Amino acid sequence: MCGIIGVTGAADAVPILIGALHQLEYRGYDSAGVAMVVDGGVWRARAAGGTNSVSALAELAQDAPTGHAAAIGHTRWATHGAPTAENAHPHIDCTGRIALIHNGIIENHAELRAELVAGGHTLTSATDTEVMAHLIEQGMAGGASLTEATRSMLRRVRGAFSIAAISADEPDTIVAARHSTPLVLGLADGMALLASDVPALIGHTRQVFALADDELAVLTPGALAVTTLDGTPVEPELLTITWDVEAAQKGGYEDFMSKEMHEQPLAVADTLLDRRGAGGELILDEMRLSPDDLRTIDKVFIVACGSSYHAALVAKYAIEHWAKLPAEVDIASEFRYRDPVLNERTLCVGVSQSGETLDTSEAMREAKRLGAKVLVVSNVVDSSMARAADGVLYTRAGPEIGVASTKCHLAQIVALEVLGLYLAQILGTQPVSVTNEILNAMEVLPGLVTEALSRAGEVDQVAAKLTDARDFFFLGRHVGYPVALEGALKLKELAYLRAEGYPAGELKHGPIALIEPGTVVVGIATRNPLWEKMMSNIAEVRSRGATVVLVADDGDEESAAAADHVLWVPPTYPLLAPVVGIVPLQQLAYRLARLHGHDPDRPRNLAKTVTVE
Ligand code: F6R
Repeated sequence: MCGIIGVTGAADAVPILIGALHQLEYRGYDSAGVAMVVDGGVWRARAAGGTNSVSALAELAQDAPTGHAAAIGHTRWATHGAPTAENAHPHIDCTGRIALIHNGIIENHAELRAELVAGGHTLTSATDTEVMAHLIEQGMAGGASLTEATRSMLRRVRGAFSIAAISADEPDTIVAARHSTPLVLGLADGMALLASDVPALIGHTRQVFALADDELAVLTPGALAVTTLDGTPVEPELLTITWDVEAAQKGGYEDFMSKEMHEQPLAVADTLLDRRGAGGELILDEMRLSPDDLRTIDKVFIVACGSSYHAALVAKYAIEHWAKLPAEVDIASEFRYRDPVLNERTLCVGVSQSGETLDTSEAMREAKRLGAKVLVVSNVVDSSMARAADGVLYTRAGPEIGVASTKCHLAQIVALEVLGLYLAQILGTQPVSVTNEILNAMEVLPGLVTEALSRAGEVDQVAAKLTDARDFFFLGRHVGYPVALEGALKLKELAYLRAEGYPAGELKHGPIALIEPGTVVVGIATRNPLWEKMMSNIAEVRSRGATVVLVADDGDEESAAAADHVLWVPPTYPLLAPVVGIVPLQQLAYRLARLHGHDPDRPRNLAKTVTVE
């Protein structure tokens, strides 16, 4: 998730760009850059200053040229290529006369890069974006306008994008387009502006137009012309924005947690993007560990904390089932103090949204010392853990600001399950038809998560009936067990309610003594081979007076008959069910937090990144 901004017709464009980039920093800040048409060429400044990239860029751009020509800016959340100045946007073509910014992921960048290099182009970054500047160069070299060359370029790329391009040949024009990622446009005082999101435009205009998927806009001073990608004109319908900047950064949601829950379908989709080759097989190029490195693996250890640990528990089931490898999961703060038995045939996977959690990074260091191959699943490109590991697999959820992990948790489950399938592919433990079937099922998960999110109103009704409850048990079996753990964690940290996640079959060995009228039992009852056993466990608590809330597959009346309240979810492949099943539990915790008067973005006593033992 990057932030993009563009303006044409401004008296002094660069300060406008920098101001807007500050408003977009919540979308990422690994690097920042601006470019502008000046004196028949393109002037550009870029900086990679960690969390201060936009400020570092402002320093660099102090003596930027002034002028009202087309100008574009970018703040980056790195996906392809490290967060360095070379990989910072805007990217330029070989002639230095075209510049382009991009938010999204281009899936077929590798084949386009190979084609461009064979055709004599020199690419200077490791990004997926740069190919687009060179494809526009090719089109313009053949006599096309910037608009036509951008249109032809867009016919060649596959993936998700919001882009904006400028060219020294058309000094006042910005051409912008989108597919899957957001782009808003606005007009103000003889200017035309574009941005990834409304906060960047609010200081200039409150009348904005949200470009729809597969539309292209040509911005000239004081004017916008919008067409579909194939050229049919579109009449822009302006919206009036009434939010302040903070509300706009939250995308109109009440808080970051709500916004991030709604970004979950995109986080899942982006984490899956460009993982499959032409024959449908998995290709994990970014991982740095080769298939040969992984072929010798005879055991997988996964180490993590909190919600990341729960994602790891789901992966255990997937890796053992698909790759037939023993998979052990450990809490990072325990792992390194208990003489874990690892060697060079062990793959040790650290899972960390931030890539900075001290317990996990120290566990990874210990695993490396013991000779294991170390792979990190991280959301932050070039995080400390990503740098120290032998290999890395990125979740692509964009920055997560709410303290409680939501979209990163879903992206972690998906990334780890992709890893499980990849190991199965390398070790030949599953027929290709099976891995393809699962990958196809994964690709429809974003739609199922969207559907689950759309039922927030029903979850709120259930939450309203539970406001007086103080004791919750979350029960699950198989992959429903980690969902139960995660549901309980969300409720504890957000609503400050006592909630215990437990394997449903284990309850009878002790904790069932705590069940009494008034105890709420939330059961994960989506269908899997253990569903009948799960329902017996639910009967055990119901007969002892518990109020039963079940997460159940749509239309499953047998589950519903055993519950006081049902949280319905669309069904999916059993091993993928946690990705959908956790959604109503996030919503339940969120709503109970609100009903108890707590701010879900800032739970007490917690920090987003825990860098102490
Ligand atoms: C819970 C939560 C935490 C984190 C944990 C690990 O909602 O967010 O439990 O999952 O602190 O953090 P990372 O993944 O950054 O290592």
